[in-house]
Amino acid sequence: MYSNMGYSNGHHQQQERVTTHRDRVRRGGRRSRESLRVSEHQQQQKQTERKPTTPCTDFDVAYFHSYAHVGIHEEMIKDRVRTDTYRAAIMQHQSSIEGKVVVDVGCGTGILSIFCAQAGAKRVYAVDASDIAVQASEVVKANNLSDKVIVLHGRVEDVEIDEEVDVIISEWMGYMLLYESMLGSVITARDRWLKRGGLILPSTATLYLAPVTHPDRYGECIDFWRNVYGIDMSAMMSLAKQCAFEEPCVETIMGENVLTWPHVVKHVDCYSIQIEELESITTSFNFKSMMRAPLHGFAFWFDVEFSGPAISTINNHVPSVIASSKNHPMDGFQKKKRANPNETLVLSTAPEDPPTHWQQTLIYFYDPIEVEQDQQIEGSVILSQSKENARFMNIHLEYASGGRSFVKESVMR
Ligand SMILES: C[S@@+](CC[C@H](N)C(=O)[O-])C[C@H]1O[C@@H](n2cnc3c(N)ncnc32)[C@H](O)[C@@H]1O
Repeated sequence: MYSNMGYSNGHHQQQERVTTHRDRVRRGGRRSRESLRVSEHQQQQKQTERKPTTPCTDFDVAYFHSYAHVGIHEEMIKDRVRTDTYRAAIMQHQSSIEGKVVVDVGCGTGILSIFCAQAGAKRVYAVDASDIAVQASEVVKANNLSDKVIVLHGRVEDVEIDEEVDVIISEWMGYMLLYESMLGSVITARDRWLKRGGLILPSTATLYLAPVTHPDRYGECIDFWRNVYGIDMSAMMSLAKQCAFEEPCVETIMGENVLTWPHVVKHVDCYSIQIEELESITTSFNFKSMMRAPLHGFAFWFDVEFSGPAISTINNHVPSVIASSKNHPMDGFQKKKRANPNETLVLSTAPEDPPTHWQQTLIYFYDPIEVEQDQQIEGSVILSQSKENARFMNIHLEYASGGRSFVKESVMR
């Protein structure tokens, strides 16, 4: 998922794009829930008395409005790592899709719904609350798929589908996986419509954290002020640190910037995760630097896997044992090598893998810490949905190394 709701201290082009979006989100929209209606191109939906599980806030309206812009969809679709992996996953699971009913949670332009129709789905409900659903309808029509792909213009929380579905597909991932908070809508769709033993694509997601060194980045925007045209402008450095590193930065780093194996912050099993688990995530880490380097901060990234329902969840997509446990056994582990004996398709946003539009999310320190090889870097992180807007994320980071400890608070907005 693309999710430029605002920020990025990285590149100018991105800043420009993001600022526009951020302004829209902050301003909030005035569109009422009633206007999230089924358009004339869409199948008539039977409105029922069912109360929505979550209210649609002004922030949500602004969020959906932002997805009505073509640019956001162009960027996602042009991200070939993303789009090709989704298409490959659909083809890999063709036997579970052929002749079956699918719901595409947040269909955007309809691309994943159309891939599913091409894979032989009997019917695809393509749901999107953004006005992009109008274009999705037209795209479906132009491809002669109106008999198979039913575009529903509304929130997954509000629209009605009068049958159970065999498959849920969704591209819901935000920066550092959980920013944008769309996973909750996939959970809602699962609990409303998925048949027992049904398929969810992607099926799992994992968020990672690792300490990083990035002398070039630090040099470019902080050390730069030491000598500007021969003038000592180091008085600017404190402001430069504040401006560059106060908020999380979305930017691309390389494998060589990463000082250790990453730590698993959260493993999500899409068959069993509950909405409440996403409100706040806490984890403690203990790294040992693999080299001597200045430690500039921490990076987050994620991957998702496209596998079938786990054996324990088959025939019961909310198994009591897993559903009641807040932590997955993988949480808190350090990932060394991905074991992938079943050739499960993985969409990775790791620094060592081909870049995607999600890049990596960095939390920079105001001042680097010099670490020796094997020096411990320990601490904890709390990721919590912002009270102001649940699509924003508060990041509380505590870290200690070489006898000094620090706290950094930031908000991904
Ligand atoms: C990241 S885009 C993915 C679009 C498309 N599936 C693709 O892969 O190109 C997510 C889409 O989900 C929609 N969306 C997010 N939450 C939703 C919800 N609760 N109900 C309906 N649509 C939603 C957004 O409007 C947006 O168009």
